Amino acid sequence: MSSVRGKVAVVTGAGSGIGRQLALELARRGARLAVSDVDETGLAETVAQVKALGAEVQGAALDVGDRAAVLDYADTVAAQFGVVHQIYNNAGIAGGGQTVLDAEWELYDRTLAVNLFGVINGTKAFLPHLIDSGDGQVVNVSSLNGFMAQPTLSAYCASKFGVRGFTEALRTEMIAGRHPVRVTVVHPGGGKTGIASAALKEAEARGIEPTAEQRERVRVYNEKLLKMPADQAARIIVDGVEAGKPRVLVGNDAKLVDRLVRLLPRLYPKLIVDFERRRLAR
Ligand SMILES: NC(=O)c1ccc[n+]([C@@H]2O[C@H](COP(=O)([O-])OP(=O)(O)OC[C@H]3O[C@@H](n4cnc5c(N)ncnc54)[C@H](O)[C@@H]3O)[C@@H](O)[C@H]2O)c1
Repeated sequence: MSSVRGKVAVVTGAGSGIGRQLALELARRGARLAVSDVDETGLAETVAQVKALGAEVQGAALDVGDRAAVLDYADTVAAQFGVVHQIYNNAGIAGGGQTVLDAEWELYDRTLAVNLFGVINGTKAFLPHLIDSGDGQVVNVSSLNGFMAQPTLSAYCASKFGVRGFTEALRTEMIAGRHPVRVTVVHPGGGKTGIASAALKEAEARGIEPTAEQRERVRVYNEKLLKMPADQAARIIVDGVEAGKPRVLVGNDAKLVDRLVRLLPRLYPKLIVDFERRRLAR
């Protein structure tokens, strides 16, 4: 039996990339949808695409880092639909490009506000509703950087390791309390989305000119590492949810890295630095 058909599912960061494709995949499998994003133009496009599939959908402008807004939003969605079964805390930003030595403090504040507190806000705001549904599901999107660290990604890694820790702790609590809520943490590898380019645009919008090295890094990421189409990533995630998986690794890169860091915990940082030197040199 499908754990998605007829269920009310909330997707954050649904205005593009994996979030949009999650909304479409859930709609195809018969879910009723509440989708949100800070990007209202992208969100409107997602809502139109979901409607074209014949699914019920409500769109809302929402910054997941704005705790009061997320709390209000949870009550609004519960009132609109009468019940909420699933939340996909997907909204995220790249938050990379600078070393710990060079990074401004603001990079950490911003990246953790969206990627970590966004997930905590969404989970905590919706959890009572998910428990009330009697058949709840939390899906928190981390990254392969939720178990593997990389240079110039300290803010992103801190946020995504944090998402993993938060989500796994939540799972233990749902088990201990016998609450009817399954908990899944998702670790995507490189996905073909606009996330890396969005970081450059966002820096420019704040009046910071990205360095040539940062631009080159984004080019290499877009051309060589961010490979899996977002619709494929979304199918793998929803398949994992339907299969009741507590942990979903998306892509062979995520699966490989998962093994690497467990087999070679002391050696892997050196291997990562060597790999990056070779990739960025080409
Ligand atoms: N693409 C990848 O290679 C990859 C790899 C690992 C993990 N992820 C994770 O997958 C998730 C989706 O990323 P994506 O690749 O689809 O990127 P994307 O940039 O295409 O989509 C992210 C969406 O989140 C929205 N967003 C950003 N800040 C927000 C905020 N404060 N509140 C609400 N919405 C906000 C953006 O407007 C955008 O629509 C993120 O959590 C990301 O960290 C992506």
